[in-house]
Amino acid sequence: MKFDPWNPQFVAHPYDAYRDLRDNEPVSFFEPTGQWLIARHADVNALLRDRRLGRSYLHVASHEAFGREPEPAFQEPFWRVTRAGMLDVEPPVHTRLRRLVSKAFTPRMVEALRPRVRRIATELVEGFVERGGGDLIAEVAEPLPVTVIAEMLGVPESDRHLLRPWSADICKMYELNPPMESQQAAVRASLEFGDYLRELARSRRDEPGDDLISALAQVVDEGDRLTEDELVGTCVLLLNAGHEATVNVTGNGWWSLFRNPAELDRLRADPGLLPTAVEELMRYDTPLQMFERWVLEDIEVGGVEIPKGVEVALLFGSSNRDPAVFDDPDRLDVGRAENPHISFGAGIHFCLGAPLARVELIESFGALLRAAPDLALVEEPVWKPGYVIRGLESLKVTV
Ligand code: HEM
Repeated sequence: MKFDPWNPQFVAHPYDAYRDLRDNEPVSFFEPTGQWLIARHADVNALLRDRRLGRSYLHVASHEAFGREPEPAFQEPFWRVTRAGMLDVEPPVHTRLRRLVSKAFTPRMVEALRPRVRRIATELVEGFVERGGGDLIAEVAEPLPVTVIAEMLGVPESDRHLLRPWSADICKMYELNPPMESQQAAVRASLEFGDYLRELARSRRDEPGDDLISALAQVVDEGDRLTEDELVGTCVLLLNAGHEATVNVTGNGWWSLFRNPAELDRLRADPGLLPTAVEELMRYDTPLQMFERWVLEDIEVGGVEIPKGVEVALLFGSSNRDPAVFDDPDRLDVGRAENPHISFGAGIHFCLGAPLARVELIESFGALLRAAPDLALVEEPVWKPGYVIRGLESLKVTV
């Protein structure tokens, strides 16, 4: 099977197609999206760090000057929220926005959150075990990171059920050539989520709490350090990025362990392997399969000239199985020592939440291993249709 991100069979198992690309056409033009696919680890890693590419081009050129059509007017609410967050801007705006929140996500700050993360994970898992199992994704994988990031930002408990649907709808825009229905859902969710956060930030400005939204709301008042749109864009990004991929690593990770029972037994016998196991699960079945970059100046990749004005699609899932970097890359090895996977990206947009994601994953896998020693699959899971953000619809298990 060839690279075909709209085909459910490809989404379920993209790794043979990736091998073909790496071996035969590591830099190839993909007509349906007009992008260059980049399949090898060394190229993906280098391009993520190369300042001749960007998440956006709007810091150096208008749509017209870059030879692109402006987005349709109805999408404005989506872009207003998205382009106000750090992920879709480049320096100097990126530097300013990232600096404002990075202090909350340092390894030290995150380590201080570990006891709270452990408590949430333990409570979720205890309930799950008492019920005899169920859908591991809906009942454990989702609520853990949603609760953690919502508490950090200060979203009231009574509103947290709103976050997951808004995030899911907004993320539909990150898929390749999203259908009109998805575009409309993303626009609607951006409007609602934006309005909600604007209101919440205003109330926290007047009555601050001990949370990130309150801290950012104070900064809005201090002149030109943060606009209200940037505050909203930052919070939407943190709330969405703060759980989407973590949910999918948990689901994809358990599915990988169930398919590799010897590795699951090894992990049960030696939970000290959890830190390397979590890295390996992120490598073996990458939750975010692809990230894009705009080419801002003519470049050459693996002998292929790529002109300014197009997009490259960096295939993380393929890079993470590249035999040039990983010994026996198609083997799951929960003790893999050398593991320079690319799942958190690289360069200036390297995942801000990586330390937090690691704590959440170690605590969640650890809690389930301890409390459910006989955890077993009930039925073969089905993949969600998305390719870029790739995860299981549900994971039915018994304890
Ligand atoms: C296993 C879970 C996670 C994975 C695999 C992941 C992956 C990524 C990747 C690949 C990027 C860079 C995208 C690019 O270069 O185009 C990124 C950026 C980001 N991630 Fe994560 N992430 C995870 C969890 C989190 C969490 C828990 C947070 C919590 C706050 C978070 C917040 C962010 C933010 C704010 C950015 C943008 C950074 C910037 O543009 O400078 N992520 N993430």
